[in-house]
Amino acid sequence: MTSSASPTVPPSRKDIWKMFDRIAPRYDLLNRSLSFGRDIAWRKRMRRHLPTGRPLQVIDLATGTADQILFLLEGEAEISQARGYDLSEEMLEVGRGKLKERKLEHIQLLTGDAMDCPAPDQSADIVTISFGIRNVLDVPTALADMKRLLVPGGKLLILEASVPANPVVRAGYLLYFRHLLPLIGGWVSGDRAAYKYLNETVETFPCGDAFCSLMRDAGFTDVRAEPMTFGVATLYSGIRPEEPRES
Ligand SMILES: C[S@@+](CC[C@H](N)C(=O)[O-])C[C@H]1O[C@@H](n2cnc3c(N)ncnc32)[C@H](O)[C@@H]1O
Repeated sequence: MTSSASPTVPPSRKDIWKMFDRIAPRYDLLNRSLSFGRDIAWRKRMRRHLPTGRPLQVIDLATGTADQILFLLEGEAEISQARGYDLSEEMLEVGRGKLKERKLEHIQLLTGDAMDCPAPDQSADIVTISFGIRNVLDVPTALADMKRLLVPGGKLLILEASVPANPVVRAGYLLYFRHLLPLIGGWVSGDRAAYKYLNETVETFPCGDAFCSLMRDAGFTDVRAEPMTFGVATLYSGIRPEEPRES
């Protein structure tokens, strides 16, 4: 009999957070090494999209070990409040440890689903989600909830892995992604299925224009996709439009 807790069976997207519970202690190390440190540049690129000159309330969904929040806090923008939500308690615990080390315990990391976040409507100027959107069960539902969280005029920033469009780069990337990454990831984390799942979801997840269409369908405007590192990762941005005034 198989179970979703077995490290040899890839979990369904429904309880994917349980897989992150298992790999939480090695997640940061693997993230950094399997991306050859590039994720640092991608995360920093996201923070360049934060508006400056006014205090910002930020919500980071599928926050994991809080890496994205930490990079946002180190930027120039004034972040008056930041909250991270995730379903994996083990990932959140690692994140809480990192916040404690940096004396940032006022940043809250809370249990919450990216498809139904327990934060109030219009409680964020910025909503971010890094390497999380492709794990949610229903992307349109998650995008609708992100829009609900944002104030009118607020910004959604999504960082996600993508497949390079250039055929030569794509071939090399897929070779690494399909064969080497699950091997190294499985070896270090002890959970090969997790890293097999990760590459399968990247290959099947809509990226570039296809993902921008999903954001537009959810009601975001000024939607843009910025491919980074030959398209290995893409930063998407969109705005919750201002509501028309009642006449
Ligand atoms: C690849 S990790 C990304 C973590 C972090 N954002 C980062 O940039 O390193 C994906 C995270 O999504 C979380 N997750 C998966 N499904 C979720 C959901 N429906 N709601 C909230 N978090 C979810 C997992 O528990 C995991 O921590």
